[in-house]
Amino acid sequence: MPHDQFDHNASVVASAPGRANLLGEHIDYAGGIVLPFAISYRTSVGITPRTDKTIRIRSAQSPDFIEVQWSDLATWQGPTWARYVLGVLHSIDRELPGLDISVDGDVPQGSGLSSSAALECAVATALNELFDLGFSPLELAKIAKKAENEYVGMPCGLMDQAASMLSRENSILQFDCLSLEHDYLPFNLNNHGLSILIVDSRVKHELVDGGYANRFKACETARTSLGLDSLRHLTPELFESADLDPLVRKRVSHIVGEMDRVEKTIQALKVDDFQAVGSYMTQTHASLRDLFEISWVEMDLAVDVALDNGALGARMMGGGFGGSGIFLLPKAEIPTVVAQIESAFTAKNYTPPKSFIAEPSTGARIE
Ligand code: GLA
Repeated sequence: MPHDQFDHNASVVASAPGRANLLGEHIDYAGGIVLPFAISYRTSVGITPRTDKTIRIRSAQSPDFIEVQWSDLATWQGPTWARYVLGVLHSIDRELPGLDISVDGDVPQGSGLSSSAALECAVATALNELFDLGFSPLELAKIAKKAENEYVGMPCGLMDQAASMLSRENSILQFDCLSLEHDYLPFNLNNHGLSILIVDSRVKHELVDGGYANRFKACETARTSLGLDSLRHLTPELFESADLDPLVRKRVSHIVGEMDRVEKTIQALKVDDFQAVGSYMTQTHASLRDLFEISWVEMDLAVDVALDNGALGARMMGGGFGGSGIFLLPKAEIPTVVAQIESAFTAKNYTPPKSFIAEPSTGARIE
């Protein structure tokens, strides 16, 4: 199969989407509730079993051709994109034959839209179907997360994989990262003349870099020093009286505030109060910028310009240090906001951003 051709005749083809996140940033690994939704960009994976124990992987998005023996899987080193695929094979932990795997997709990479979770979840969904493994969508999300934590070495929470597996059209996924329960919230933007605009700042982020792990560690330090099994149980009162290192305190104050904003946003969504939703989004941006310190100048500029031009809410999204932002605004204002952000970027000599309107879409599926 040439690199640029997806194997449509594979024994099974599955696809899974990237995600956006309305609210609940950097609280998934702290046991919080998050409010993501799938975007319409997806990754497809075709898998055909082989009669030997060789795993071969090609992607239309990479010139690499990967060939690995099952026996070498645990210690394999190679391109990160392929490690997301192999990590799922590793963490699914079943005796399987060799596999021919082909990948194709349009989830932008390094844009904070979870192209990695889309790839992992598509692989997990395809394997589950092909070998009749019987895992539920939530179990597949956990397998995908394990691949990323243990095989790729990125200490992410479960939000991206849960969103990719469980999302539904026109809804926000309400995912509780502590109990693992989930529900769906209505997201009737069209009825209110509103849209979600995603702005890719074109500053690439690599979550396997240190900044994300460092924030994760600060939260873990606080959790263990307070003797809690989850920061979800950190009440504002306990937080006030806690004896924490000043920097750890600053980081954790984002966590405490964000968990509170999520609760309020859920209530606001239930009554279609989008003014309130927008204001919580903007508060989250300030918290991620000033307390968690993971925003970046291009995104701060885009957020300011959007708010000056009629956005109800605007914030950076995802792991931080690059990637995309999420903006809630009247549909009619989109052309103006996009043009104003572009000209502000040009004036600063920043790489031109890319924008798209996000419609909450469906999660992983067999094609
Ligand atoms: C990345 C991680 C997620 C989550 C977000 C921040 O997308 O993969 O687990 O922590 O950052 O909310």
